[in-house]
Formats: sequence, C-alpha cells, structure tokens
Amino acid sequence: MKPGKLTLTQLAEMKQTGEKIVMVTAYDAPGARLAEEAGIDILLVGDTAAMVVLGHDSTVPVTMDEMLFLTRTVARTVDRPLVVGDMPFGSFNVSDEDAVRNANRFVKEGGADVVKLEGAGPSLQRVAAIVAAGIPVMGHVGLTPQTETMLGGFKTQGRTAARARRLLSDALALEAAGCFAIVLEAVPTPVAARITEALTVPTIGIGAGPDCDGQVLVYHDLLGLTEGRAPRFVKRYAHLADDIRSALQTYRDEVREGAYPAPEHTYAMPDEELAEFSETSVEHADQER
Ligand code: KIV
Repeated sequence: MKPGKLTLTQLAEMKQTGEKIVMVTAYDAPGARLAEEAGIDILLVGDTAAMVVLGHDSTVPVTMDEMLFLTRTVARTVDRPLVVGDMPFGSFNVSDEDAVRNANRFVKEGGADVVKLEGAGPSLQRVAAIVAAGIPVMGHVGLTPQTETMLGGFKTQGRTAARARRLLSDALALEAAGCFAIVLEAVPTPVAARITEALTVPTIGIGAGPDCDGQVLVYHDLLGLTEGRAPRFVKRYAHLADDIRSALQTYRDEVREGAYPAPEHTYAMPDEELAEFSETSVEHADQER
C-alpha cells in the first residue's frame, strides 16, 4: 500500500465520527490528480467509463481489459485516495472462481486497492469469495445500472415498503458477506437513512439523500462535461463542456485567421545561423539525407 493511503480503518472511523466520505469517479491521470489535489477520499474507476469516456450507451459493454487499463492509470497517479476498481458486467456473475480471478486482476494488474461489484442475491456469494481471497469489496445496491433491464429501466428503487425492506435486507446481507462499504443508488432519502443507521459499515449515496455516510458523483456529470438531461441527483458544479467548446472554437478561428501561433508561441534562431541556413539550397539539404 502506498504511504499515506486512506485505510479502511480510517473510513470506518469516518462513519463513527460523522465525517462525510467524498468519492468521485476517475478514469485518467489528469482527473485523478485533480481529485487528489481537491482532497477527495475515494476514486472509483467506475464502469460508467463505458458511457462517459468510451462512447457506449450503457455500462454493459466495457471489458475487463479496458477497466484494467483505466484503473492502472488512476492508481499510478494518486497516493492518498483509495482506488476502487469497478467489476464490469460479466466479470463476476459466472462463478466464484471467475469473480476472484478478476478481482485479483484489478489488484495485481490494475493497482486497485479494493473492488466494487453490483447487486445482492447471487452477488453475495461472490462478495464472500473475493473477501475470503483477501480483497476488500464495496457493495452497490438500489439502482444497479448493469442490470437496468431487469429493473425496468433507470428508476428509483425501494419506493414501496416491501421494496424498501428488501433493500435494507440486501444491504445487511452485503455487510454480513464482508463488504467494507456499500453504494446506495437512486433510493428514497428515508430508506437510505434507515439503511445507513442499520449498517456498521459506511454507505456512499448517489441519489440517496444527505444521510448517507458519504456521497459519490460521476466526474463528468459534476463538472458539466456531460450535457442534456441528467438524473435528478446530479449537481453540475461547473460547466466545462461550454468552456472546452468555446476554447476549441477560438483555437479553430485563430488558426484559420493566422492569429495563432503569435510570436510568443514560436522559436527563434541566432541571426548568423539563419543567414547560413537561408543560403542552403534544397539540393544541398537533400544530399545530407
Ligand atoms: O460506475 C460508476 O460510476 C458507479 C457510480 C455511479 C456509483 O458505479
């Protein structure tokens, strides 16, 4: 473990003391570096990479190799934040052996500190197997985008008493299976509050209200790099897509008008060298090849 790395013990203490845990997704070195400089506690190399950096329209297609590439990039960039490798669809749902093998790859090849996987039910056994293999696991219940089709779309989960009870029981089961923290996604505030109170491990909310022990947002959403309709829980703290588009348009215009590069962006050479170079014929230069 890198010196200064946030430990799972410190995370557990944060729940006890009420210090909020701040998590954000990260997929590349500049983003990871800025997040560490901003004092973010946990970097999730989320399978949302499929949508926000790889151009897919769901999280399902992203592969283990693509996730490992991104995780390695983030892990080698940062020291303190805990780096979570998000196990992609298909990497843990076949068998315990497969799940442990892929979790090992996140740690050994990707440099992740821990892994995250979605769901309860069949995922409980996978969590227990990975934890038994020595790799800490973050759970994820509520809206689980990998199985969005089974859930009937991107919908708030746990809105009836029966479904809320089920969520509570899933979260308790994940804690019992060994999860060190659990993401609650798109869950009514009182349900998330009840789950947070019932668990001894921290909850990290996304669309789960203010009572969770921590919060997570997708980097591109919070910076306004994604545009258009966003889920209700997304708060855009910046509008970088506007800034980037406008910078690129100005660059385009300046190149076309000859305003860029200006003298301050160019390199000079000594006068005598330039004089000699000016006398060089193309044929002479060609002979030097
Ligand atoms: O992949 C991801 O970014 C996530 C967060 C939305 C929690 O799982």
